[in-house]
Amino acid sequence: MQVNKYVFQSHGDERGQLVALEEFRDIPFRIKRVYYMYDTAPGVVRGKHAHKSLEQILVCIHGSCKIKLDNGYETKIVPLEKPYEGLYVANNMWREMYDFSDGAVLMVLASELYNEDDYIRDYDEFLKLVKKEHEN
Ligand code: TYD
Repeated sequence: MQVNKYVFQSHGDERGQLVALEEFRDIPFRIKRVYYMYDTAPGVVRGKHAHKSLEQILVCIHGSCKIKLDNGYETKIVPLEKPYEGLYVANNMWREMYDFSDGAVLMVLASELYNEDDYIRDYDEFLKLVKKEHEN
């Protein structure tokens, strides 16, 4: 499985760092939604779902966390530890976010508005879907 980790340009000077993210330039889709997780309780695993069509870029803008990606055939664990790194997560990809450091903030840039119908929350249903798509 190929992991698409982006390293964004960080504009640094004596004042500090600034990262700017533009759709279709730094981010490979139109950004329709931004959300972020913070105050994550210790030991928590978030996500545990896939999306039928949504694409996302995950950026841990403060602290660190780990992302487990699972395409139904392989899994990869990707640490996010820098505010200038982004992980692209395609559709049909099971994801779990965990190991949040104290004070971590995980920001997500999404290609679509929130739509519960786009979620696959059942792992067996996810496996069936990816195997079916693989056959076609
Ligand atoms: P949830 O899907 O449980 O988060 P995750 O699976 O990524 O850990 O979302 C938590 C709550 O937030 C749930 O009530 C739905 C709501 N929510 C929105 O209203 N808009 C959004 O864009 C997202 C991602 C969640």
